[in-house]
Amino acid sequence: MNPKHDSYLDDYEQYETLFDPMRSDRKARRGRKPKTKHTPKKPQQQVIAELGESVGLEGGFKTTYQPGLFEEGWLLQSLRDFYTQHYISDVLARVKGGKEASVYRCQATPAIGGGLVAAKVYRPNIFRNLRNDAMYREGRGVLSAEGHDLNQSVHTDRMQRALGKKTAYGRQVAHTSWLMHEFKTLQTLHAAGGAVPKPFAAGENAILMSYHGDEDRAAPILQDVVLDVDEARSLFNVVLWNVELMLKHNLIHGDLSPYNILYWEGRITIIDFPQVINSQGNGSARFVLERDIIRICDYFAEQGVERDAEAVAHRLWKRYIAKSPRDQKADESRLLAEDEE
Ligand SMILES: Nc1ncnc2c1ncn2[C@@H]1O[C@H](COP(=O)(O)OP(=O)(O)OP(=O)(O)O)[C@@H](O)[C@H]1O
Ligand SMILES: [Mg+2]
Repeated sequence: MNPKHDSYLDDYEQYETLFDPMRSDRKARRGRKPKTKHTPKKPQQQVIAELGESVGLEGGFKTTYQPGLFEEGWLLQSLRDFYTQHYISDVLARVKGGKEASVYRCQATPAIGGGLVAAKVYRPNIFRNLRNDAMYREGRGVLSAEGHDLNQSVHTDRMQRALGKKTAYGRQVAHTSWLMHEFKTLQTLHAAGGAVPKPFAAGENAILMSYHGDEDRAAPILQDVVLDVDEARSLFNVVLWNVELMLKHNLIHGDLSPYNILYWEGRITIIDFPQVINSQGNGSARFVLERDIIRICDYFAEQGVERDAEAVAHRLWKRYIAKSPRDQKADESRLLAEDEE
């Protein structure tokens, strides 16, 4: 990993604590970590200046979108590699600033087909908001920036210990793994024909993927769409088909809801996968699967499609996760036969 990453994460956190407009002074005081005597806080102007310098704004990456003072350094630093590697030539607009990430509409270069693409830029502090991330981590690997599972590597102990701690290194490992889980899941599901954005590239802090919408507005989330009952019925089946596709790859979305499904010209696209869980190795799999299905069924019930969420989740559970020993044996023999071919 790039050691620079650490330092700019630290800088950003300091900068964010100083400037986050959402934090009141009282909140900021309560949340502020005790200061160590050895690291005097940098003056605000110095932090901003350093972030500006570190992204090489003078290097030609001028964007049509005018980022605010609070986002400029982090945004350009996060997207600079996509720019220098000629994936994007411009940032056109911010589609949405979320609690964990902001998504930007960008101009793609011909190298990746031209047109518009979406860049999801993670906030550096997502782990402060994600109280329960250990629940999602159970049974899934720790992924490196190259997408390798660090549990398989010689560094396992160090990585695992780092993850349990709140050191800068531990946070960096967790941050990268989180992002790479989203990227790898998009790769797997897109290759399998799933209704997910096409992933183009992953950087240290951002993912580049197909954009859904047009030059004026991004596709709305399903939560903001009212469907007629026939369309609702067929889209419910599409969502369920995708849930089954995930289960066939031992994946459960983990935050599936009408807020994480886009709707555009009659088609849906499922997004937002960093918390994806391993259906076979996670003790909370059943709870998470049920929660996903209940949220989907609640939305579709409002559109006139009544389904028994618990019965749906139970059927999926039995079919894909809690297999009988006989089914498991059959699966193993099939896989063995495939290996021998
Ligand atoms: N590929 C895409 N094309 C168009 N818009 C997108 C795309 N991906 C994400 N968006 C928009 O960006 C928003 C945030 O994306 P996402 O859900 O992945 O991040 P998030 O951190 O979970 O944000 P939130 O907290 O708002 O859910 C989405 O609700 C959607 O409006
Ligand atoms: Mg989301």
